[in-house]
Amino acid sequence: MRKKIVAGNWKMNMNISEGLALAGSINKYFLDNPSKRAEAVLCTPFIHLAGVAETLKNSKLSLGAQNCASEPSGAFTGEVSCDMIKSTGAQYVIIGHSERRTYFNEDDKLLNKKTLLALKSGLTVIFCCGEVLPEREQNIYFQVVKKQLEVGLFNLQPEDFAKIVIAYEPVWAIGTGLTASPEQAQEMHSYIRSLIRERYGKEIADQTTILYGGSCKPSNASEIFAMPDVDGGLIGGASLKKDDFCAIVNAV
Ligand code: 13P
Repeated sequence: MRKKIVAGNWKMNMNISEGLALAGSINKYFLDNPSKRAEAVLCTPFIHLAGVAETLKNSKLSLGAQNCASEPSGAFTGEVSCDMIKSTGAQYVIIGHSERRTYFNEDDKLLNKKTLLALKSGLTVIFCCGEVLPEREQNIYFQVVKKQLEVGLFNLQPEDFAKIVIAYEPVWAIGTGLTASPEQAQEMHSYIRSLIRERYGKEIADQTTILYGGSCKPSNASEIFAMPDVDGGLIGGASLKKDDFCAIVNAV
């Protein structure tokens, strides 16, 4: 059985006290109501990591960052390295989110560099891929995602690739209220799994967790998560509300 995961991506939201309060309330909920099916991950801004790690001590919740530097250390003012992230107690890092690709010009080669560093630091990578609306309309969304994975991930050794979580986030569904239909999500997830099978074989493909992201909420999570190749979600807006996030974790 592959791992089911629901990760909340807080993006650039919450000051420290709001973030600690949110993490504390989600933690309390899962201490009272342990999730049997999915691992829940909170991906906070960098400055929250150490504090939230303290809040989550002895809990079942996991912690992640939303980005990392593409160099291991040194004179890179303002950057945060994978080793620093790991030293906060975080276990995960999101790499290749469409907002990083779009607003910070991160390309597949750079994302590959970040991925290799993150693995070296012992972090689990949530690697994002997905097409923009014109690419879907032109029917080239399979080619787009294939290239993102080939350049971003497929030079990894099998034992490293086995530690990757993939998140399919169609960019047209992020923050728009437009969710991919369960069938659209399944079609892409099954395609992604077929690419992994071709490159790494059936065993690794069957074990790879593939998350869906894009306007996922309590009202649509169950039907998307019911698809055979959807193994959980990467949640933006709804992860900022304790009740919504916990309901989505429970929808797995
Ligand atoms: P929304 O859930 O707000 O659409 O964001 C999805 C996302 O980008 C998660 O990384």
